[in-house]
Amino acid sequence: MTNPIYIDQKEILKRYKSIDKHTHKGIQGHALIIGGSYGKIGAVSLSSKACLKTGCGLVTVFIPKCGYDILQIAIPEVMVITDNQEKFISNIIFNIKPQAIGIGPGLGLEIETQQAVYKLLQTNKIPLVIDADALNILSKNKEWLPLLQPKTIITPHPKELERLIGKWNSDAEKLEKTIAFSKQYNLIIVMKGAPTRIIDGDTIYENTTGNAALATAGTGDVLTGMITSLLAQSYEPISAAILGVYLHGLTADIALPETGFQSFIASDVISNIGKAFL
Ligand code: APR
Ligand code: MG
Repeated sequence: MTNPIYIDQKEILKRYKSIDKHTHKGIQGHALIIGGSYGKIGAVSLSSKACLKTGCGLVTVFIPKCGYDILQIAIPEVMVITDNQEKFISNIIFNIKPQAIGIGPGLGLEIETQQAVYKLLQTNKIPLVIDADALNILSKNKEWLPLLQPKTIITPHPKELERLIGKWNSDAEKLEKTIAFSKQYNLIIVMKGAPTRIIDGDTIYENTTGNAALATAGTGDVLTGMITSLLAQSYEPISAAILGVYLHGLTADIALPETGFQSFIASDVISNIGKAFL
């Protein structure tokens, strides 16, 4: 197995693209975040706000009807499309042309939601980030994995990874199985944890930012929004994953002296994205 490439400031500066002074929101990228179910609209709020704060020009969310008022009040900058169902997503239809889609935060596992994901995967050609329950849906329906476009980004935490690739007995075996899975389906796998590693075929990247303050509800949903934002801004999928993971960890390093480990929450990631970029 090859040694990892460390994701440090040098690696980031090779990939980071500064904003052109003549840009406007129409060319800054339009991202679509799909997720949410009754009681889990907060996951989409966090994800879509992080998406905006990472620089894309326009963000639309696709959520069940029950999230409409919540989203519009929580984040006035985000546009909202709703499903026909009140409490969960049953059919993903949109008439916009996003440059990237993030799917999964708060999505839930209803049978109709699973079918909606299947339908999306059958036709989708837009760069995609798959997280949380969208990954759990794929774990339940592994025969759908070949539908994923090359270099689709998946962002499993350890349990979600285990559901996809099966159990492992050592860190080496975990890496080996993840690499094999990445090659089999041509995926970029963000193995979340401490440290987060990114697998792209045989290449292993290891993040150098972040700390235990991130072990709190919703930080994963925020990461999904950040990576989707970078994808929508025309970063190559591997660069979007690397830059997103690095900036996400850096927010916690920046905030730590003020919040300590205990009082850091996912919204603190979002409010420090600007400083992380700077
Ligand atoms: N050190 C550094 N980073 C950490 C640490 C740590 N000790 N603990 C967690 N993190 C980071 C991970 O690397 C990841 O980026 O925090 C993030 C946590 O992401 P998730 O585990 O996906 O958590 P999140 O999605 O926010 O929370 C609950 O997980 O099980 C799912 O669907 C469930 O939506 C729910 C969600
Ligand atoms: Mg998660």
